[in-house]
Amino acid sequence: MSSLPVSSLSKTGSEGAKAALSVEERLFVALDYPDAATALALAERLAPLGVSYKIGLQLFYAEGMAVVHQLRQFGKTVFVDLKLHDIPNTVAGAVDSLVIQGVDFLNLHTQGGPEMMRAAVVSAQQAASRLGQTPPKLIGVTLLTSLSEQALNEFLFVEGVSVGEYVQHLAMQAKKAGLDGVVCSAQEAPLIRAACGPDFLLVTPGIRPAGAGEQDQARVITPAQALQNGSDYLVIGRPITGASDPVAATQSILDEMRGALV
Ligand code: C5P
Repeated sequence: MSSLPVSSLSKTGSEGAKAALSVEERLFVALDYPDAATALALAERLAPLGVSYKIGLQLFYAEGMAVVHQLRQFGKTVFVDLKLHDIPNTVAGAVDSLVIQGVDFLNLHTQGGPEMMRAAVVSAQQAASRLGQTPPKLIGVTLLTSLSEQALNEFLFVEGVSVGEYVQHLAMQAKKAGLDGVVCSAQEAPLIRAACGPDFLLVTPGIRPAGAGEQDQARVITPAQALQNGSDYLVIGRPITGASDPVAATQSILDEMRGALV
């Protein structure tokens, strides 16, 4: 894989596009299901609402790219959340394969380091240019929203640093490497926005409407507060997939999002 300097690459198109994003496009519903039939059934029910979809490890390992292709047929944005984390050459190869297959958003761990992130950016740009396509958005995972400040200090052994400082630092490294944005908690969104500017994409899981259970998430926030804090995209799974009426739950979340933006 030849190494184009990141600075010579055109950005992957976030400029200007954000202003035009609808509330519906800003909601990624996490289709964390064991099979395509169940995921596609919900996607079909939600399609009239205009939301975007996210495919994670469970569904991808069960069904592979076939389910990505099926979801893309709904004409909505599809985020393939595989959290790539390996040596630069391997991640570059994985990104090349994903771009050839066709994805709108993909992500990788910022903790794989600057060379890994740069290799991913170069690979996405080269594959897209070879195919005459727009590259996907490349999003860096910072600190998983299931990890608390205590886990950062005691398990990851990063002492004397707050979650906000740690995530902000990783976001700045991601931006420097040429990524389009990061996954973080919306709790950290204002800090990252201040450091990385208006065009940097903030994709935020750990969203819980008031009264919903946190489950395994640690750094949670409501949909309205996430948008008020500057999130661009909300990733929401169980508050929708675990609801007795997922369509009504999605509508209620979209209403809360609309209310936060007026
Ligand atoms: O069900 P819940 O709303 O907690 O789902 C959150 C989704 O976002 C899951 O699919 C999870 O894998 C994903 N995610 C996350 N934290 C990250 C990155 C992705 O929770 N840092």
